[in-house]
Amino acid sequence: MSKLLIKGGSVLKGEYRLKAAKNAVLPIIAASVLTKEKCVISNVPDITDIRNMLKIMNALGSEVTFEDGVIGLESSDLLRFSVPSDLAKELRSSVFLLGPILARLGKAAVAYPGGCDIGVRPLDIHIKGLQELGISVEESHGTIYCDASRIKGADIMLDFPSVGATENLMMVASLAKGRTRIRNAAKEPEIADLQNFINAMGGKISGAGGDTITIEGVKKLHGACYTPIPDRIVAGTLLIAAATCGGEITISHCQPEHIEPLLFKLNKSSCILDARSDKITLRCFERARNIDKLETQPYPGFPTDLQSQTMVLMSVSEGTGVIVENIFETRFRIVRELMKMGAFITVKDRTAIIRGVKNLEGASVSAGDLRGGAALVIAAMKAEGYTTIENPFHIDRGYEKIENIMNGLGADVKRI
Ligand code: EPZ
Repeated sequence: MSKLLIKGGSVLKGEYRLKAAKNAVLPIIAASVLTKEKCVISNVPDITDIRNMLKIMNALGSEVTFEDGVIGLESSDLLRFSVPSDLAKELRSSVFLLGPILARLGKAAVAYPGGCDIGVRPLDIHIKGLQELGISVEESHGTIYCDASRIKGADIMLDFPSVGATENLMMVASLAKGRTRIRNAAKEPEIADLQNFINAMGGKISGAGGDTITIEGVKKLHGACYTPIPDRIVAGTLLIAAATCGGEITISHCQPEHIEPLLFKLNKSSCILDARSDKITLRCFERARNIDKLETQPYPGFPTDLQSQTMVLMSVSEGTGVIVENIFETRFRIVRELMKMGAFITVKDRTAIIRGVKNLEGASVSAGDLRGGAALVIAAMKAEGYTTIENPFHIDRGYEKIENIMNGLGADVKRI
């Protein structure tokens, strides 16, 4: 099993151009099932979540190509309506296929999906929404069986603005007779991106980014070529790395408005930020002042996917800070690993109290999930001495060769 070996004490310098957002590309890949015609998706990073999603598409009978960041997908005739359980276990976003397969074939079977170990991650909101649309849902032996023969547009109210449930329901409703409204919808930028992709296919969706999304069902959708939005979580991860290690970096092909809560916190800390229309430059040459309190919320609040990374910044800042994780119940796995590096953190339920220390010490740690793993890379780049990180495969799910990304900004990361 490979590991990452990281020499600490880096000061960062350089520029990184963002690729398309993992969490935009994954539902867009699923949405390509809504048409028999070819779809082309550009500027896609070569990461394992995308590779696994394409494996699932292959298993369903789609023609798949992926070269130089460009994905070609053609689902002219789907061979099956079920997602293989071994693949579904690999990837939470296999659940995104429920909607499109139902819309295309009228029935679907998806095993309970896998993904990061950051919480139970039930599917009750997906299932309740599908049932509102007249879809029958049976669950047995860890598989969800759906029948959409009586599907019709409906008014749906989500109990929680679930990203995946919003996306699944948008996709299944796009080919359903009548009008569907999704209230209390998720507002993440990736939702608007999915709306724009389905509209590029001839869909009639409006309101994404707001509380209520309206979908007018259409008879047929055609192929489309599309470049998804840049990855706001990769952007945030790199900005936090520079704020933690010090230095000056620029993130280009970026949409600063997608990470305003982070930019606000970094401004209050001790970073000098220059955010333009499609790039952000961050300069930080002194120890960060602590971010007093941080609560993760659905968009446009502070993103849970940047919580672990911010915890690392807070662990070496002046003063004491508090993090409340409101989205996932166990997204503090990284705390145990940071304490091996000398961090001073106490956790009670969904609250972590972080007392900043002057610096961390290199240690042998292990990644337990995607964003926690990326956060350990930041901690190791800052720490004194050498750090090894086991299970970097978690990080490879969402970052394309993280050692190349970080070394391009002046770090010293080796995969051994
Ligand atoms: C998406 O996951 C993202 N994944 C996650 O990113 C992200 O953290 C999350 O949205 C929140 O922003 C993709 O887009 C592939 P949710 P998703 O449904 O759709 C509960 C990363 O690191 N819930 O909004 O699974 C759920 O348990 C990943 O890139 C239900 O209770 O998130 C969680 O506590 C990690 N019932 C909360 O809602 C449901 O039916 C948010 O889940 C669905 C969700």
